[in-house]
Amino acid sequence: SSSGQAGHSFRRKPVIIIVVGMAGSGKTTFLHRLVCHAQASRICGYVLNLDPAVMTLPYGANIDIRDTVKYKEVMKQFNLGPNGGILTSLNLFATKFDEVIQVIENRADQLDYVLVDTPGQIEIFTWSASGAIITEAFASTFPTVVAYVVDTPRSSSPVTFMSNMLYACSILYKTRLPLVLAFNKTDVAQHQFALEWMEDFEAFQAAMRSDDSYMSTFAQSLSLVLDEFYKNLRSVGVSAVSGAGMDAFFKAIEASAEEYMETY
Ligand code: GTP
Repeated sequence: SSSGQAGHSFRRKPVIIIVVGMAGSGKTTFLHRLVCHAQASRICGYVLNLDPAVMTLPYGANIDIRDTVKYKEVMKQFNLGPNGGILTSLNLFATKFDEVIQVIENRADQLDYVLVDTPGQIEIFTWSASGAIITEAFASTFPTVVAYVVDTPRSSSPVTFMSNMLYACSILYKTRLPLVLAFNKTDVAQHQFALEWMEDFEAFQAAMRSDDSYMSTFAQSLSLVLDEFYKNLRSVGVSAVSGAGMDAFFKAIEASAEEYMETY
């Protein structure tokens, strides 16, 4: 689908990159690195911060939920704990999301990417109505991809790796958007083991067996499910600290955006 003949109602650009990952995976540091890389490569990007509770950001956000919703006041007003406060703040923001889309549409010609930072507790975004509303609003207007940040050194045991991949898998099927796995912290541990396990599930099963955790038939079935899942995504190794893998990441995003244009 090289021309507009197919009748896509959304524009080719910008590409929306929704960045999610387990708490501590390095999401914020990774986003900061992406912003620096984009600036150095003259790629024009916007950053949208959706975390109402973050105190300081290492990068300047062009659109920031904190400008609209005061998280501490939401907590007080609705008598909520920290997570309820973040969720309610996100709900309030989601009701005005058409304005955010409008701001981006007005700038669309100048923008290559919009990087979206999500709340530290991943499920607040991935399993909430407002997360779905925001994702849907993006995906119906622009090519949209999800970047799932993985803490590579902490995923080196087969069981942890499998739980992390099952979580990524649930995000793929929930959003139905192209997914890029960003194996972060490769300055500490290379992601080669992950690539091997993803390419060869027998190698993964062998690793499971030697992990002195049991290898049940259930775990075997799961690794077969994951084998199918791996065919539907792209993975790159990155380091938010050293800056390795940034070009590869943007290439994977481009390919995913192409896939989006062809599929949706
Ligand atoms: P939340 O704020 O809980 O959402 O965490 P986050 O996922 O945004 O992670 P954050 O960017 O705060 O990073 C978590 C920790 O990992 C920090 O101590 C970072 O310095 C560290 N970190 C992030 N990226 C890398 C990396 O590429 N290499 C190394 N060695 N450390 C990293």
